[in-house]
Amino acid sequence: METQVDKIFLVGFMGSGKSTLGKKIAKKLNLPFFDLDDCIEQKTGKKIAELFNDNGESFFRDIESQQLTELINNEEKYIISLGGGTPCFNNNMDLINNSGASVYLKYNTGILVSRLENAKADRPLLKNKSKEELSAFVGDLLNKREKYYLKSKFIIEGTNITSNQILDLLFQNRE
Ligand code: S3P
Repeated sequence: METQVDKIFLVGFMGSGKSTLGKKIAKKLNLPFFDLDDCIEQKTGKKIAELFNDNGESFFRDIESQQLTELINNEEKYIISLGGGTPCFNNNMDLINNSGASVYLKYNTGILVSRLENAKADRPLLKNKSKEELSAFVGDLLNKREKYYLKSKFIIEGTNITSNQILDLLFQNRE
């Protein structure tokens, strides 16, 4: 499949499947794939949870923006899955939208909570939360973050978003 867009950014809350879908799309388009969290871990030699614990969230956000800028400036064509917080800090979302196609994988709180219940351990913001606490936390944070996510050029809403849906949306006008 020929791509008209050079850089595709997958945007969405934790648990929305950005990394899994990103890898699939990259394979189908035969493009490189980056996971911003993995790039940060490689760069710093620390796990995301360690960075939060040892250095604090604002340090993590600085590194996250630096790493994003580096990838935008130094790499040509790729799919990248962002962290759930990436669009909401510094001027990241403007930078993203000035550099390629952003796609928001939009799920409601209920779906996100059920997707995240078994995936809390590696996520410093969710660790040790009970189901009730997780629900309240996700609802509240999604409320605060959605205005950034909604700046994405493309929005897909669903109960189980697939890589084909994303490709159709991105390339629906292709010849
Ligand atoms: C975060 C999401 C995580 C990771 C970090 C902070 C967030 O990425 O960047 O734990 O603020 O929502 P995923 O969305 O891939 O879980």
